[in-house]
Amino acid sequence: MINLIAGNSSKDLAKKISKKLKANLVKSEVKNFPDGESKITLKGKLSKSKTIVVQSIYPPVDSNLIQALSLISKANDYSTEVVVVVPYLGYARQDREFLPGEIVTMKVLGRLFKGAGASKIIVVDIHSKIGLKHFKIKSENISAISDLVKYFEKINLRNPLVVSPDQGGKERAKEFAHEFKSEFIALKKQRDRKTGKVKIKTEGLDKVVGRDVILVDDMISTGGSIIKATEFLKKQKCKRVFVACTHALLMNDAEKKIKKAGVTKIISTNTIPGKTSIVDISSTIAKAIK
Ligand code: R5P
Repeated sequence: MINLIAGNSSKDLAKKISKKLKANLVKSEVKNFPDGESKITLKGKLSKSKTIVVQSIYPPVDSNLIQALSLISKANDYSTEVVVVVPYLGYARQDREFLPGEIVTMKVLGRLFKGAGASKIIVVDIHSKIGLKHFKIKSENISAISDLVKYFEKINLRNPLVVSPDQGGKERAKEFAHEFKSEFIALKKQRDRKTGKVKIKTEGLDKVVGRDVILVDDMISTGGSIIKATEFLKKQKCKRVFVACTHALLMNDAEKKIKKAGVTKIISTNTIPGKTSIVDISSTIAKAIK
């Protein structure tokens, strides 16, 4: 029987995956010392077979990262093979040197995961596939698009149009639109690399008039990209705006600001637990592990 360790950041998702795999679920407990250190304890025994570690790396990113590495290291002491599932991989956007001198943190993560003893990493909708090139172990990026599409198939939409808020997300929007059997477009977004502020550079767009829009993105952090895209689409006289994203970080008051910009509903997956995380991707992850 394979072991599945539920990291502290992915307890529910890990439980669901373990049920589907009929795995030996080993829970973990984390206590935080006043100085910020995590004290991690496994609440069960690992058998000598393969071990799956499930731990998402959302905020607090560095604590969740050290917990993932610690669980891998512990699993490596007992198991024949350690596969780590990181449904949301924080730091994935730092996959290249955009400005001179910037550290490519994905390269550091690649070394850390290998050093801790992982033989394979599975992630969901990574920001860009370039990130996984820094991992010198087996790696797999799985898509949550089909699960998100299934949710949208149950909503009554008026002449829906799938929209990517930027050119970087074009392929993702194309895949969504293909499965959803609708048209798609990708806006032109510009981000200031120093301030992080975004602007939509697309001009007039008759195509959206009177239509319900599904904005598809890999993640929402501050909400800046979705807010700017929504304001632009509303100006072009679209009808309702829905957001479909895999990872909803929704930092600070992002959700409130997104709603204020005119978004009807945000739908995300349970790679990050939260109010909007209503699409369960445990079956997709379990399939990838099998
Ligand atoms: C960027 O290219 C990504 O695909 C997301 O659009 C972006 O990271 C979301 O961040 P924020 O919500 O802060 O705009």
